[in-house]
Amino acid sequence: MSSYIIEGGKKLEGTLDVSGSKNASLPIIAGTILSGKESKLYNVPNIHDTKITLQILEILGCKIHRKNGKIVVDSMGIRKYEIPENLMSKMRSSVVLAGALIGRFKKAIFTYPGGCDIGVRPIDLHLKGFRKLGINVTEESGLIICSTDKIIGSEIHLDFPSVGATENIILASVFAEGKTVITNASMEPEIVDLQNFLNRMGAKVSGAGTNEIKIKGVKNLKDVSYNIMPDRIEAGTLLCAAAITGGKIKLNKLEIEHINPVLNKLEECGCKIEKEKTSVILEAPKRLKAVDIKTMPYPGFPTDMQSVFSAVLCRARGTSIITENIFENRYKCLNELKKMGANIKIEGKTAIIKGVKKLNKANVYSPDLRGGAALVISALSAKGKTKIENIEHILRGYENLDKKLNKIGANIKYEK
Ligand code: EPZ
Repeated sequence: MSSYIIEGGKKLEGTLDVSGSKNASLPIIAGTILSGKESKLYNVPNIHDTKITLQILEILGCKIHRKNGKIVVDSMGIRKYEIPENLMSKMRSSVVLAGALIGRFKKAIFTYPGGCDIGVRPIDLHLKGFRKLGINVTEESGLIICSTDKIIGSEIHLDFPSVGATENIILASVFAEGKTVITNASMEPEIVDLQNFLNRMGAKVSGAGTNEIKIKGVKNLKDVSYNIMPDRIEAGTLLCAAAITGGKIKLNKLEIEHINPVLNKLEECGCKIEKEKTSVILEAPKRLKAVDIKTMPYPGFPTDMQSVFSAVLCRARGTSIITENIFENRYKCLNELKKMGANIKIEGKTAIIKGVKKLNKANVYSPDLRGGAALVISALSAKGKTKIENIEHILRGYENLDKKLNKIGANIKYEK
């Protein structure tokens, strides 16, 4: 178990580049399975989750080369359709490999995925979607077995605009006979990135970014080169790091539109925001103002930013009310924040945060990816040296978070 030791109280000032998006990379890496050809991917973040996904692809039979930030996946040689349980259990997003395997081979065998313990996280909507496409789905001693002779385009309505289910259905229906229509689809930017990637290979997907996505089945796909979109959650996290320390930051290489829900809240807190084409400058006041937050599917305030923003609000002037509407177990880090002197009351899906003037050092434990990042943010503004244990979660999803923050004035040491 590794840790970060963070000496807080330093104002963060400087310029950083945003890395490629984790949550866009994972379904796109899965999508490379579909073509049976070569996919060159640029801007894939070098984090544990992308490494594990690539490791699974290698086990399935893909050839993978990495060079100067470029990843080349040749999926011609895939001979296996079973996703190894030990790797499947390491991350939730491994489930989208199923959609890609089904799309190409009409079969896949996998187990329930693992990942951050932030809620129940069922996959019923994924499986319902597969069944609607004519796929037989059975469960045997913990294994989920999907197979069919023919994938048939269909109309699929999602009870909830699930990101993963939308991605899985798109991947599974790229070669389907006829047209698939997903209604109440997820509108997240990562779905648009997946659509753009698939269409670059010759697929016919349209409507991503709206709640109705159409997929017209094609016969084959071709080689592709693709640049992954910027990570909007990393961008939000870095902005929050500067905001809590009363600092000033310029972020480059981002999509402003994607982070508007977070920028609007930071402005409400009293930060000055200047937007350029693909950059943003944030200048924070000495003390932020409290704001209320309700997480919602895109374009609402992202659940993935809730923990980090809550950490910022622990130091704001006034009382903030947070409502977590997506995952029922995303407040674990708030209990750790209390050890640092935060004043938080949790009632079901609501957290009431009374801002305090200062946070103190403590030994805390990272409960999940974004919760871990929230602890980093608080530690940056706390007095003294905070030790955050179990940072493996953070390493899963942030590329060089410690190095990036140190570059703009933080003092974070990594301890193995
Ligand atoms: C994606 O997870 C992201 N992961 C999550 O980011 C993110 O928090 C989440 O979308 C919501 O934005 C990746 O993209 C790899 P969902 P996913 O299916 O696809 C319920 C991070 O920190 N649901 O949209 O798993 C579910 O329980 C991670 O980077 C069902 O009921 O999320 C939840 O309440 C964590 N049945 C809601 O839908 C299903 O079959 C949203 O889940 C599927 C989901």
